[in-house]
Amino acid sequence: MSRILIRGGRVLDPAAERDELADVRIEGGHVAAVGAQLDAQGAEVLDASGCWVTPGFVDLHTHLREPGQEYKEDIASGGRAAAAGGFTSVVCMANTQPVNDDPSVTDYILDRARQDSPVHVHPVAAATRRLEGGVMTEMSALVEAGAVAFSDDGHTIMDSGVMRRVFEYSRLVARPVIVHAEDRTLVRDGVVNEGPVSTRLGLPGNPAVAEAVHVARDLMLAEVTGAHLHVAHVSTAEAVDLIRRARNRGLHVTAEVTPHHLTLTDEATLGYDPNTKVAPPLRSAEDVRACREGLVDGTLDAIATDHAPHAVHEKEVEFTAAPPGLIGLETAFAVVMDLVRSGELTPLQLVARLATNPASVIGLGAGRLEEGGVADLAVVDPERSWTYDPAKGFSKSRNSPWAGRRLAGRPVGTLVGGRLVYHVDRGVLVP
Ligand code: DOR
Repeated sequence: MSRILIRGGRVLDPAAERDELADVRIEGGHVAAVGAQLDAQGAEVLDASGCWVTPGFVDLHTHLREPGQEYKEDIASGGRAAAAGGFTSVVCMANTQPVNDDPSVTDYILDRARQDSPVHVHPVAAATRRLEGGVMTEMSALVEAGAVAFSDDGHTIMDSGVMRRVFEYSRLVARPVIVHAEDRTLVRDGVVNEGPVSTRLGLPGNPAVAEAVHVARDLMLAEVTGAHLHVAHVSTAEAVDLIRRARNRGLHVTAEVTPHHLTLTDEATLGYDPNTKVAPPLRSAEDVRACREGLVDGTLDAIATDHAPHAVHEKEVEFTAAPPGLIGLETAFAVVMDLVRSGELTPLQLVARLATNPASVIGLGAGRLEEGGVADLAVVDPERSWTYDPAKGFSKSRNSPWAGRRLAGRPVGTLVGGRLVYHVDRGVLVP
């Protein structure tokens, strides 16, 4: 087992409110010591001066595309992209082919992850068969196989009776239900946020109220069933407001927001770039402001990427025909550093939203950096500037709105179970 000394970094552990310059010694897969001027004792030394040393990031929303769409991504390439982004755990969505609605698929994903992925992979199982919103999946068998939550993400369960049952059964297995809140009857063929931008583009609009209507319904159903509702990729001011009020009333609701919904408005779509097409769509400046406020005041617990790879031949078509989604694992940290630079979040608060809080949403024993704890860690340089070229990244896909952009902030090392799995100069090192 490797021994590593991470030297001279700013150690950030939100759970203990620790923020100090220190060395971190790792032995036997665990954090053996945190303190000033630790002796290397023959361990490999990783220089972290100018860097933050944090719990490994936890992504609550990744599409790994395996099984079935390995031309877009697979568990190996998605796992490598995650490691390069400072993530040590990813929660992967069920809209694979076949859908992860059966324990055999959950088993397959976990098996491949053990062999192929440098980071931990936690599968989300579908809430309904084939994501069709009609017949519920066998939740207890799926949890036994290793599913950590239930979601029809990519689709919305429109039948409120089915949704109620999903919430009821989720309580029996004590797992969250992650909802993709877009009322299909309001979205219809909308492809960009409904408003001045959709009018200028001459494209069908997807109204903000399509999200709010659904969040309101699911909050009510979660309340009557006592279930844990987790709202995926919140994008509107109305949804933030509804969630804030529900939390104040004591409902068990958690929520995530993506780097793109925190930093890009619908104006980014004005050039008809299909890499800015995403579901839910990029919204107005007011919505972005509300999402940022929600993240700052704790209404939104976590930053989650919604890493959604699509192949070049699928994306390089006219805007209406392109599938929604963008990749985000490798750029997430740099993009959300914007909230630290603006003074809205302290470094410790940002790390809470990237690591500690998402781990607690799904009850993972991760997201900490403490003596005796498992050494799943990220070493990130908050200033390092780089030009993002998806062709040089680890994802198989290229669909990023940040392609070619100069970014500041970059993971330089990622450790999983005490092993260095990624180093910015050496690439991905295992498996
Ligand atoms: O933009 C999106 N793409 N949103 C989703 O919810 C699904 C995802 C995908 O699977 O491509």
